[in-house]
Amino acid sequence: MKYVATKKTKAFGPHTLFMIILTVMLFLLQGCGSAVPTTVEPIREGNPLAIPSVLEDQNPEPDIADFELNVQVGEMEFFPGVTTTTLGYNGNYLGPVLKMRRGQQINVTVNNHINESTTVHWHGMDLSGEADGGPHQPIQPGEKWQPQFVVNQPAATLWYHPHPHRTTGPQVYHGLAGLVYIEDEVSDSLNIPKDYGVNDFPLVVQDRNFSEDGEFLYNLDMMGLVPGDTVLVNGTVEPYLEVNREKVRLRLLNGSNFENFRFHLNNGENFHQIASDGGFLESPVVQDSIFMSPGERMEVIVDFSETQTETVVLMAGDYEIVTFYVQDETGQDTEIPETLTTIPEIPLGEDPTTRLFVLQSMGIRGTINGKTFNMERIDEEVPLAETELWVIQNRGGGMMMQSGHSFHAHGTQFQVVSRNGNAPPPEERGYKDTIFVDSGEEVVIKVHFQHEGLYMYHCHMLEHEDYGMMGQFMVSP
Ligand code: C2O
Ligand code: CU
Ligand code: CU
Repeated sequence: MKYVATKKTKAFGPHTLFMIILTVMLFLLQGCGSAVPTTVEPIREGNPLAIPSVLEDQNPEPDIADFELNVQVGEMEFFPGVTTTTLGYNGNYLGPVLKMRRGQQINVTVNNHINESTTVHWHGMDLSGEADGGPHQPIQPGEKWQPQFVVNQPAATLWYHPHPHRTTGPQVYHGLAGLVYIEDEVSDSLNIPKDYGVNDFPLVVQDRNFSEDGEFLYNLDMMGLVPGDTVLVNGTVEPYLEVNREKVRLRLLNGSNFENFRFHLNNGENFHQIASDGGFLESPVVQDSIFMSPGERMEVIVDFSETQTETVVLMAGDYEIVTFYVQDETGQDTEIPETLTTIPEIPLGEDPTTRLFVLQSMGIRGTINGKTFNMERIDEEVPLAETELWVIQNRGGGMMMQSGHSFHAHGTQFQVVSRNGNAPPPEERGYKDTIFVDSGEEVVIKVHFQHEGLYMYHCHMLEHEDYGMMGQFMVSP
């Protein structure tokens, strides 16, 4: 849909020149130093894509995982010679991948080392309200928080990020976000690319603006957050990735605060989408472009084995998101299976409760059902383990009111019943936790909750969330 950001030449020009000079210097050094012929590193434009580390599980028991996250201030050199003050989990920017297994008991310790209150929310996780990490579980500076939960949902790519009252947007913008991978028997059994950092790569895509002195420019105006002119992928500016001549799995997160992306490949090749927010689709969906609103995840396989060109570029509009250099190595023998999993229909009773959620916004400000967020008010009382129909309506109006929204509900994975009265498109037939509802659209979802507690629903455009487009529901027996 949107991403139409144009390249900032300032950010890309000098860097490329620098890389060329560096490569030439390395070449000369190698040439003078030894008589043995050495292979010359090929010239690569841009920066090697950062691959987040995988967080060590400190518990030797296979059924239990203990993780420790430190929320901290950091420094990054996104552009050579320019430092940017950042936030990160256990590092300078973003956080490590937390690998969990279905059935595993998870114990996390979060230490807050920054000078403001934060929370850690497990986006997409089916867990109790207490462990959810919404605005009701603040971690004050110097304090720690120790949520515990058991993973009881299919293999999926989820994520974690802060959710403090009214400051979610700026905290995420400065770098607080990370991925959660859930694996299970199904993901074990599939011969799909699953070698982390070899043929299975996370891509956290985020638009950003920088000030003249290199700091993040979190710039709000009446319309919301000003679209970034630089796109970071895993915190890398103008990234490239070397891949083998094989099938490669990309786990995409639109980690932007406010922007949608529509991705395509510059050589016209297709994506084989294998998963949506909450896990595998029943069978892959072949698409020449994929749309993602803030908070959504998607797993796709790109088959580089037949690629004729040396590079393939993942694009959003005319913006180059990641350049893949296709190497000569054949890589691993994986498949794009015709059947990935079976997704049981969430059972719906005779006369299900139907709730209406009307989304409206005027620039940065918005409401759900005419209300702005109030932490003291519980908007909906939802019975435990009963399936309901939620009708999400985006009543876009005049000029300033025509915005799509990214509706998200905590504590569950839902199924889409219809979009504008029609059956959902194939890519929306798996589990979802975040769904794009464009201006004038109506989406009906089937939701149920397995745990008790207080949860949020909101627009995942983080400035809409911070400015009131959020409500809360209590799940109880
Ligand atoms: Cu991704 Cu309420 O959050
Ligand atoms: Cu969430
Ligand atoms: Cu919104």
